[in-house]
Amino acid sequence: ALPAGLATLADHEAHARTRLDDNAWAYFSGGAGDEITLRANRAAWDALQLHPRVLRPLQGGNTRVQLLGRELAHPILVAPVAFQRMAHADGELATAHAACALGAGLVLSTQASTPLETIATAIAHEPARGPLWFQLYLQHDRGFTRELVRRAEQAGYEALVLTVDAPTSGARDRERRAGFQVPPHAAAVHLAALPPAPPVALAPGQSALFDALLRHAPTWDDVQWLQSISRLPVLLKGIAHAEDARQAAALQVAGLIVSNHGGRTLDTMPPTAALLPPIVDAVGTALPVLVDGGIRRGTDVLKAMALGARAVLVGRPVVWGLANAGAVGVAHVLRLLRDELEIAMALCGCARLADCSPRMLWPSSP
Ligand code: FNR
Repeated sequence: ALPAGLATLADHEAHARTRLDDNAWAYFSGGAGDEITLRANRAAWDALQLHPRVLRPLQGGNTRVQLLGRELAHPILVAPVAFQRMAHADGELATAHAACALGAGLVLSTQASTPLETIATAIAHEPARGPLWFQLYLQHDRGFTRELVRRAEQAGYEALVLTVDAPTSGARDRERRAGFQVPPHAAAVHLAALPPAPPVALAPGQSALFDALLRHAPTWDDVQWLQSISRLPVLLKGIAHAEDARQAAALQVAGLIVSNHGGRTLDTMPPTAALLPPIVDAVGTALPVLVDGGIRRGTDVLKAMALGARAVLVGRPVVWGLANAGAVGVAHVLRLLRDELEIAMALCGCARLADCSPRMLWPSSP
């Protein structure tokens, strides 16, 4: 059952701290380096101000959005977050049931602790379920990667989300300080059978990163390769630069997710609220642009929509809900966000998300 007194996502965060051990907390809540980007994500949404209009007709208003040929009940999706069984024994399964109950889209991580088929089967007959997407990390073994993609297709996943901002982990100082380790029960099940990368004998002065690990880092060619081996739409997650957005659009990817990985990769990169507008400008209406990072309030969701996002993803708050009360906790987190979004829309005089524009923000963009 839901613990008493949880009225906001921040309440969920404070309570989750009491439920998770130091190891799990360092992993789930931490960012890279000095966590400047992690904090900036929040501060940037806070700093934007909504500028309400009054006396507009609100009857029949709704939170629906169009995404990849589907109509969604609302624009809030669950971001891919690894190792969810570290937060709760039910892990990704609980998250999936909660997402279904709230009609939220779900992106399952390559590093999930529950098999993708288990998730797809469990929610196959949920009437109100949102889109089900699979997040892909390209593995050094492309044959293995191809097989993972085939499994996702076969299980009924509707899109692939290729994460492109993490060729290596960031400098995760908080994790190293805590001596973070993935407990065996929460291991990445999809990667259990991944053959180890062939060992590289490094000459003195060579880099273990550039001369070994990054030999397999994905490139634009791999995006095309992925498009060629799968019939599923491919979205790119972790786009931060307008030039990259243009290049992605030229490859006709299905969508972009503006993200800094929740402040977990490159510290001191800008917050996503700042990265979003130039990317929306760069791709126009050619493809949907989604955003994540620090979304904690319905007002944050509305601000993202005002800046041109088609939808948003939330990462850590889902983990907090999961830690606090399993599926019920995740459902509560999603419910709070959605309710807050409706309140914010009503108070801004916005009956439909398609009507959102930067003119809802103060000071208004031209
Ligand atoms: C992530 N994120 C992530 N992204 C991804 O593509 N694959 C993954 O396996 C993970 N794993 C992961 C674990 C944890 C603990 C966190 C916090 C994040 C990034 C995630 O999808 C998303 O971009 C951010 O979490 C969004 O920021 P907020 O909502 O957490 O502030």
